[in-house]
Amino acid sequence: MAGETDCSMLETTQKIREKFSSLLSEVKSSADLDALRIEFLGKKGQIAALMTNLKDVAADRKKEAGRIINEAKQFIEEKLREKNDELIALEEKRQIDAAEVYDDTLPVDPGLGSYHPITLIQREVEEIFSSMGFYVEDYSEIVDDYHCFEALNIPKHHPARDMQDTYYLDNGQLLKTHTSAAQNYIMRKYGAPVRAVFPGRCFRNESTDACHENTFFQLEGIMIDRDISISNLIYFMKTMLSEVFKQDITVRLRPGFFPFVEPGFELDIKCTICGGVGCPSCKNSGWLELCPCGMIHPNVLRAGGIDPEEYTGFAFGLGLTRLAMMKYGIKDIRVLNSGNLRALSQFIDG
Ligand code: PHE
Repeated sequence: MAGETDCSMLETTQKIREKFSSLLSEVKSSADLDALRIEFLGKKGQIAALMTNLKDVAADRKKEAGRIINEAKQFIEEKLREKNDELIALEEKRQIDAAEVYDDTLPVDPGLGSYHPITLIQREVEEIFSSMGFYVEDYSEIVDDYHCFEALNIPKHHPARDMQDTYYLDNGQLLKTHTSAAQNYIMRKYGAPVRAVFPGRCFRNESTDACHENTFFQLEGIMIDRDISISNLIYFMKTMLSEVFKQDITVRLRPGFFPFVEPGFELDIKCTICGGVGCPSCKNSGWLELCPCGMIHPNVLRAGGIDPEEYTGFAFGLGLTRLAMMKYGIKDIRVLNSGNLRALSQFIDG
């Protein structure tokens, strides 16, 4: 190809560029792109062929011709790179659209998502108790018979178990029926004195209706020290509830039976809606039943490794689900587990 001038080399490379560009515009995948790379830049590709021909170019034109080939090569390399980036971006977008990957760099729409009303009330109560020096503890939803019943002074065949039928696993463990199941664990973990609250999801074999669910939330609290009495219990409950309802709350205690407290009580609050006169919310009684509680039974303290001769304590089992319903005016408990976003996203923090 001795006659080939740099001018015709320019033409040749121009044609190669055009052909390359038109093929590139049809590339749909990285496999297509690889094939194109090989066709133009491979060992037996078009650029390599030009390089081979270079030896036949007249000596005085060789340098210029070489420069022209190199420019074409750089052009092709550059376009291949761009196309490669483009294909990667397209693939990422496809995966994101198909929700295969989660891109946490995408901006968050602050209008999306909201806290569940139970989460809101739980955090509020936790904050109030931790400001009063209580630990906030977590405990498993799957527990054994000992922690859920035996350690709480509820031996096998005790009638109190009837009200707490639950879901049993094949290995004999069960889904906890009340947050009291963590009492023994907390006592063993901290010893006495101790003050702690521990929220949790609880389960019972329950037919559901507007007031009953098989899955609900409680927040348990215990305070154990020397000379703890019922007055301490009343004080802490009154303070916490007044904070939650943002008004002064009047409480009363009625006797209630739970094998793990002695004496045991039902704590009622004066109806926050009618102020105690009587209305449909409080079934005209003026009072709302809110929180079973009592002085921890000596057997329970003993099971937790605490000497009942030296220490006393109170325990309460606040129904978080119930509290959320009262605070937010939710009439049907089933809404809370429904996943119905139109209902659940109405509640905002604070
Ligand atoms: N664990 C009891 C229940 O769920 C409530 C309770 C807690 C009662 C603490 C007394 C003291 O029924």
